[in-house]
Amino acid sequence: MTVKQPIVLKDLPTDLDPNRLPQHMAVIMDGNGRWAKRRGLPRIMGHQRGVDTLKDLLRCCRDWGIPALTAYAFSTENWGRPLEEVEFLMTLFERVLRRELQEMMAENVRIRFVGDLDVLPPSLQSEIYRSMEDTEKNTGVQFTVATNYGGRQEIVQSCRAIAQQVQQGLLKLDDINESLFENFLYTKGIPDPDLLIRTSGEMRLSNFLLWQLAYAEIYVTQTLWPDFDRHILHEALLNYQQRERRFGKVGKT
Ligand code: IPE
Ligand code: IPE
Ligand code: MG
Repeated sequence: MTVKQPIVLKDLPTDLDPNRLPQHMAVIMDGNGRWAKRRGLPRIMGHQRGVDTLKDLLRCCRDWGIPALTAYAFSTENWGRPLEEVEFLMTLFERVLRRELQEMMAENVRIRFVGDLDVLPPSLQSEIYRSMEDTEKNTGVQFTVATNYGGRQEIVQSCRAIAQQVQQGLLKLDDINESLFENFLYTKGIPDPDLLIRTSGEMRLSNFLLWQLAYAEIYVTQTLWPDFDRHILHEALLNYQQRERRFGKVGKT
């Protein structure tokens, strides 16, 4: 008698080309609230479950050979949610970070946070800075978490920093070009994402990495974030590998 084993997809599925994987994948982890609502649970339970999904995705990047992952955890617009939800999320981030740091070290993950971090609760800020410092030299998956992140805010703060340097005579107007501008973004030194995945069916960017996603391939799945798993990532990557990235040029077909 054969016992049906659950397929966990530990290794890269054989129908994927290991040489054509995205070198940087970004995810908009959406649908936590709806996931909980469908089960008659409070929204925060969806966020709680969403953490497990993210943990497995990070591990999957290592298992399958995707070197960089960026996840959208909290937008500059998410402050507009009910206070209890915002407070729950801030506490959750802090708790998860404290709990997972050791494991991230063991797994050689380098974690970075992008966004306006100065206004986050001070105890969360300490965990954030500690995790960034501790993992700074790690050479495994480069994991970026967008927290209190807004693409427009990021662009405006870059403009202000550049303007200040011009005012102080440190930069000339002619020095300003795309590569200089990128050095003033939170994502300085991190290559642009090749693939953006958004869960829960929404077809929008919601202020995520507006500059960096200029030429990313976009994949939207109806699956709600807590239900996202390696099977759905497999589908997304198969779809990605069928795309022809033209970058404005003329295609092969
Ligand atoms: C995404 O899930 C998580 C955050 C924005 C923090 P949502 O909370 O937006 O879930 P839905 O979209 O309401 O279902
Ligand atoms: C985007 O999801 C932000 C995060 C996933 C952190 P939202 O749920 O906030 O986006 P909208 O409101 O549907 O555009
Ligand atoms: Mg949402």
